[in-house]
Amino acid sequence: MSPHLPRVLMVEDSAPLSAVYRAYLQSEPFELICVASGQSALAELEQHLPDILLLDLHLPDMSGMDILRHVHEAQLGISTIVMTAHGSVDKVVDAMRLGAHDFIAKPVDAERLKVTLRNTLQFRQLNMLVSRYQNEFQRERFEGFVGASLAMQQIYRTIETAASSRATIFITGESGTGKEVCAEAIHRLSGRKEQEFVALNCAAIPKELMESEIFGHVKGAFTGAVSDRVGAAGRAHGGTLFMDEVCEMDLELQSKLLRFLQTGCFQKVGSSTTECVDVRIVCATNRDPLLEVREGRFREDLYYRLHVIPVHLPPLRERGDDVLRIADKLLLDYAAEEGKPFRRFAEPARQMLLNYPWPGNIRQLQNLIRHVVVLNDGIEVQAEMMPRAMLGESTTPVTLGRPEGPIPSPVRPHQNVTASPIRPLAEVERDAIMQAIAFCIYYIPQAARLLKVSPSTLYRKLQGWQQSAGAMGAAPPKEQE
Ligand SMILES: Nc1ncnc2c1ncn2[C@@H]1O[C@H](COP(=O)(O)OP(=O)(O)OP(=O)(O)O)[C@@H](O)[C@H]1O
Ligand SMILES: [Mg+2]
Repeated sequence: MSPHLPRVLMVEDSAPLSAVYRAYLQSEPFELICVASGQSALAELEQHLPDILLLDLHLPDMSGMDILRHVHEAQLGISTIVMTAHGSVDKVVDAMRLGAHDFIAKPVDAERLKVTLRNTLQFRQLNMLVSRYQNEFQRERFEGFVGASLAMQQIYRTIETAASSRATIFITGESGTGKEVCAEAIHRLSGRKEQEFVALNCAAIPKELMESEIFGHVKGAFTGAVSDRVGAAGRAHGGTLFMDEVCEMDLELQSKLLRFLQTGCFQKVGSSTTECVDVRIVCATNRDPLLEVREGRFREDLYYRLHVIPVHLPPLRERGDDVLRIADKLLLDYAAEEGKPFRRFAEPARQMLLNYPWPGNIRQLQNLIRHVVVLNDGIEVQAEMMPRAMLGESTTPVTLGRPEGPIPSPVRPHQNVTASPIRPLAEVERDAIMQAIAFCIYYIPQAARLLKVSPSTLYRKLQGWQQSAGAMGAAPPKEQE
């Protein structure tokens, strides 16, 4: 309940009637403001919005309908009760069409007036409660996430409640489920957002450089250390240190990390001086950390030190309709970026999105939609525009994938104008790769496995073709197989 009384604005031109109604409502818990003309009603609405408008439709200077229309069109969020002469049903119907909440027939009875006002007020309060709960419990978007599923509501609440503490957060989830989005959300909602968010990918940094990446080094500490360098832990002082792919860390370094977590202090490589920092640790992995512990690849004591607040991001296939919510947003984003008119997915295409298991999760969905947008045209994405492999039973096994980087925009090769059946080897290779990628529904790690190359080889090639296609100018898009 708001601390102030609800405001009721009464618009009634007859002074004696206005006095009678005021007397009726004397002991009601409202703040009652009375005006006698349409103009003064509009002026009052400009000044201070009431909760309820009690409106006589017959006014000396304008029709009450005009005021009602203004309230409706300007979406002032006021509940209006109209007062009409007995029997004017048409007017009531018109008023309801213009958003009136209720009506009272004149002459107004004291009890009827009180009850109508009380009910309207109760209705407003319930409505406000419902929209508050909707905001809190059925959020469709949250700090970079799109998704309204129950599983995601739980994630949003965990992030919100845990963000402000200094406790370590351990994020798990398959590749492309939004672990980095989650880490960034935690940082933004913590009291540390003015300081740095330092992300360190433990899988991408060579083992021998990792210690220096985390803790920094002094000049001359090793060949190539030409000057002092502050590491990630130092840069994150006061902020958040995000250790991504933490299970990939070398065992020896894991013990140094454990010491750092226990004391908050470390030594730069090559230095004997101890430095202490205040950092909040968030870490993530797409592996099963307990399996890593059992198999001896991850220190058990480090695991328990890090595993304070676990956040498990569910795979996309367990988020129900969220796949459609995310797909709709991506379609609009990519259509805008690519200058295409796409607005929505046709029903059969929506079903395909819902039925597919998405082993590469949101990143795979991004890759697929980007390709569909680039390679096609129209307002609606039709089923035929989707990869053919999605039409039948999925041939892609659902496995935990390796991290998948963003795939560059699709290749747009020149059409082959020569009649010769023999094509340059590079072109054959490109076709084989694109075929494999489409076959795997834009899940690059799976395409790489089938082609028996590493995912990074595919990314490199895609990027190269993309660049040369850009250099060649506006080549016609290749038909998607
Ligand atoms: N719920 C979501 N709604 C919209 N976009 C999302 C959502 N979750 C993730 N994304 C987007 O999907 C992409 C992959 O997300 P992110 O990098 O956070 O995943 P990840 O779990 O860290 O993946 P990996 O294990 O491969 O590193 C990003 O572009 C991110 O913005
Ligand atoms: Mg990641």
